[in-house]
Amino acid sequence: MHQVTVHTPLFTSRVLIGERAARFPDYLPKGRQVVIITDAAILRLHRELTQDYPVIEIGSGEEHKTLQTAEQIYHQLVSLGADRSTFVVGIGGGIVCDVTGFAASTYMRGLRFGFVPTTLLSQVDASVGGKNGVNLGGFKNMVGTFVQPEFVLCDPRVLQTLPRTELVQGFAEIVKAGAIRDAALFDYLEQHAVAALNGDEQALEHIILQSVRMKAGVVERDEHEQGERRVLNFGHTFGHAIEKLTKRPHGEAVSIGMAMAARISVRLGMLDAGDALRLNSLLQALSLPVETCLPVSALFEALKKDKKKEGDALHLVLLRALGHADVQSVPVSEVETLMSQSL
Ligand SMILES: NC(=O)c1ccc[n+]([C@@H]2O[C@H](COP(=O)([O-])OP(=O)(O)OC[C@H]3O[C@@H](n4cnc5c(N)ncnc54)[C@H](O)[C@@H]3O)[C@@H](O)[C@H]2O)c1
Ligand SMILES: [Zn+2]
Repeated sequence: MHQVTVHTPLFTSRVLIGERAARFPDYLPKGRQVVIITDAAILRLHRELTQDYPVIEIGSGEEHKTLQTAEQIYHQLVSLGADRSTFVVGIGGGIVCDVTGFAASTYMRGLRFGFVPTTLLSQVDASVGGKNGVNLGGFKNMVGTFVQPEFVLCDPRVLQTLPRTELVQGFAEIVKAGAIRDAALFDYLEQHAVAALNGDEQALEHIILQSVRMKAGVVERDEHEQGERRVLNFGHTFGHAIEKLTKRPHGEAVSIGMAMAARISVRLGMLDAGDALRLNSLLQALSLPVETCLPVSALFEALKKDKKKEGDALHLVLLRALGHADVQSVPVSEVETLMSQSL
């Protein structure tokens, strides 16, 4: 088992990688009421994790990541007699973790909470870093808080019940972690990622650990996304636009977005073409797409809509090398041309 700590000015959060999910009660403060928030998949597939405490069940899917769901949670917390001493545990994927963190950090001005993330994406990304939130209208994560969970238990064994397509989505974020800040992780992924995807637990645990370490480091240096944390958006500027237009799953859209950003980096003379090819090969080996047949104009329009708050320039996360990303401000007028040269 490995522990990664995320130190922020107000708080220290512990991420335990390789710990058994069923041991989460060991991490709870003594003598407090505990409430679990989870969804139907976990209640069905991992009953052992939820049987000892009162459970609030939420729906699965982005359409349930809403203020209404948060409100339902508040009402159920009231019925359960929850007060400021209550501890809340979110057990599930990124949606459960995001909603749990949001509801817990706002109910009665904030309850203590922890996570047992059960998807690969939530283990390496959603549950680490303290961003909690819900969607509003068509906009993702529009309402939320920055509050760190007290603990995050990442147990690769709970991923055995996860459909392969969901596992693949998590790998997109892992490739991102290597590409932006960890060349050694990227090399390791080239050797072992496919084995990890096919069930090599040791390799998977190592990959989760290194991804969490990368994210924890970035979050510690820039908790509120004033600067460096933006590198975590590598592949996401284009990815979000692709996701909106094609309804592709998040990881697939981000994969195409990363490949595009790498090609733009080559185009701008920042990145060696060989490195962009290595990125493509790794993504494809993991069954992730690197291209889209969407017309550039449609993609550009969607991207402008998504990023309207940034003004005349877009913050693009580009690569200087595998393991080294930089945020560059590119005038909106140039982005469309760069995109058409890089689809
Ligand atoms: N807070 C952050 O920093 C952050 C970062 C990245 C993503 N996110 C958010 O995370 C969300 C996506 O998370 P996700 O990809 O985990 O999706 P998800 O939470 O929708 O989970 C995917 C599906 O897998 C099921 N599931 C969960 N664990 C399972 C298991 N062990 N076995 C079988 N099925 C299981 C769920 O019920 C769900 O149907 C998005 O809303 C995104 O915005 C947040
Ligand atoms: Zn993402």
